[in-house]
Order: sequence, then C-alpha cells, then structure tokens
Amino acid sequence: MIREVLKMGDLRLLEKSQPVKAFGTPQLRELIVDMRDTMAYLNGAGLAAPQIGVSLRVVIFGVTRNPRYPDAEEVPDTVLVNPVITPIGEEMEEDWEGCLSVPGMRGVVPRFRRLRYEGFDESGLTIDRSVEGFHARVVQHECDHLDGILYPMRIRDMSQFGFVEVLFPDQDVIDE
Ligand code: NI
Repeated sequence: MIREVLKMGDLRLLEKSQPVKAFGTPQLRELIVDMRDTMAYLNGAGLAAPQIGVSLRVVIFGVTRNPRYPDAEEVPDTVLVNPVITPIGEEMEEDWEGCLSVPGMRGVVPRFRRLRYEGFDESGLTIDRSVEGFHARVVQHECDHLDGILYPMRIRDMSQFGFVEVLFPDQDVIDE
C-alpha cells in the first residue's frame, strides 16, 4: 500500500528509531511492502521507515540503470534492517542530495566516500557490504533518517541548497 511520506517539520522525522526485534513476521513484511510501494510510486532511490511514520530501524534503497538518469550509478535493491555503518578511511565527498521528505529541493552534503554496512534483510539473513560513491551516499542518507537526521542538517554551505527547478532546470532527478 502506498503510504503518505512525512515532510520536514514533522517531529516524527526527528526521533531515534527502535531496533527490529523479530524477523519474518507479517508486520515486518507488510511494512517493507508498503515502503517498496511508496518508494516506487514516488520514484525514489531510498526510503526509511520513519518517513512513513514507523519508528523502526528499517531502510530500503536501490537504483536501476535508467536512461533518464544516465549518470546515476546502479545500487542493488536492498532491504536493510538494524544497520550499522563503519566508515572506511576518512575521505569525504560532497554531492547533491534530495529527499522524499524534503520535496522539490536539493543540497550539497558531505558524506564518507567509502564505508562498510552490516545489518539484516527482512528474513534475518546477514548483509555485509563494503561500498563507495553513490551507493555509500544513499546508505548514509537513509540510515541518518533512523537517527532523526535530515540531509539539510548536514549541509555545510547553505548557498548550495535550493529548489530543484531553479538548480537543475533541464534535468530529471531522483529523490532519496
Ligand atoms: Ni531522505
């Protein structure tokens, strides 16, 4: 079921979410179906459970190669529960981000270039990946939602924050 995505200003987006305690349950499966439906409907690159008002440590993300976004790197469709992120090295990288909870806007956000993420899929199987670039950026963005952090809070130069139709008038862009 497509759910309403909470927008910045809603206090529920600022909460720290709770770990999932049981895997393979109908509730968890239903949550993930709703998150997938909602992300697909809004053409997003990722979605975190708190964005649909569920305060649990669950994120989904994935970007398939799309002729509309020739520059977007592919990211595998992933359900990640109770994630733990460990940066690999200290290198940071700045790039544009958007968010389904901050519609119509983009900002330049610093993120770790490389990281390892660990967690579980919806059945409780372990996920353990080391990634970089856009994939690492999407993971950091989504996991921030679980700690009540929205990307505008991480922007260092507020002159690089604005409306997408002004910043990128000729481009289709993906929301995270
Ligand atoms: Ni977001």
